Amino acid sequence: MDFRSAHILSIEQFERDSIDRLFETADFLAPYARRQKRTKVLEGAILGNMFFEPSTRTRVSFGAAFNLLGGFVRETTGIDSSSLKKGESLYDTARVLSGYSDIICMRHPQAHSVAEFAEGSRVPVINGGDGPNEHPTQALLDLYTIRSELAAHDRTIDGLRIAMIGDLKHGRTVHSLSKLLCLYKNITVKLVSPEALALPNYLIDSLVNAGHRVEVSNDLENGLKGVDIVYSTRIQEERFSSSEEANLYRGQFRLNETIFTANCEPNTVIMHPLPRDSRSDANELDNDLNPNPRLAIFRQADNGVIVRMALFASILDVVHLVEKYEAPIHWASRR
Ligand code: CP
Repeated sequence: MDFRSAHILSIEQFERDSIDRLFETADFLAPYARRQKRTKVLEGAILGNMFFEPSTRTRVSFGAAFNLLGGFVRETTGIDSSSLKKGESLYDTARVLSGYSDIICMRHPQAHSVAEFAEGSRVPVINGGDGPNEHPTQALLDLYTIRSELAAHDRTIDGLRIAMIGDLKHGRTVHSLSKLLCLYKNITVKLVSPEALALPNYLIDSLVNAGHRVEVSNDLENGLKGVDIVYSTRIQEERFSSSEEANLYRGQFRLNETIFTANCEPNTVIMHPLPRDSRSDANELDNDLNPNPRLAIFRQADNGVIVRMALFASILDVVHLVEKYEAPIHWASRR
């Protein structure tokens, strides 16, 4: 794909070659994300960061990534505080807001709403999550994390063995990641969920058609055995018709240090798109795993800034100018 001025709406837009190029750019930008270097390459540019569903990581890391490239961020959060509440269409909203921004990131509770918005936009639009459909930038940062965690053991994404656990029906991060894994070779995917929350069949078919081995079960301990990556997910309470229905599944697949040690290989990496549900009736990823060096969830969240910087720099076509617009760093904030 050509990144220049592109909308990023679905992970299906990417080929393996474009992922390689994006990750090369991400590696190049990592020192800027870590405040070891600074650039003002996007000084004067404006990001419209529009989040119509709750978010911590995606919203703030998109904003931080744009700021770290020198750009400004304007935020709109919540449908109630926008004129969507008064019946304005996504098309009209896009026509108007794209006059105020150079690029827009958007999260919305309805599937395909971000694509509808993009039709009205005069600037590139990035999907920050559209209902239960997709979360393409999360899949990119997840794959970037998998790549770097495996590289520590001289492994590549080809040949990966991964367990995806939890609410695979509503979890848009596993939907996008499953599609992305179809670009790679010889993958084993163990899908662990309650039967009612299984990964949609069309995604299982895509994995099988890509030549991957797919095992479906509701047995957590078996699912953990012989995998490189455990990708745990939250029961997506907001997608159920009631909390009572979500409660039927909450807490069914809890991973803690004892279960990890008993079932996982020593190098198995634990990932989660976050937020993890740490309430006592869920506790899907126990706090007793926090000191475990194989828990990659915060490295994964940090990678969100790096990958989103790479997307902004590629879409706005400034990768080749980043070093030219370097600036000094005057402060010391890292511990
Ligand atoms: N992973 C993720 O999308 O987190 P937020 O909902 O906090 O943005």
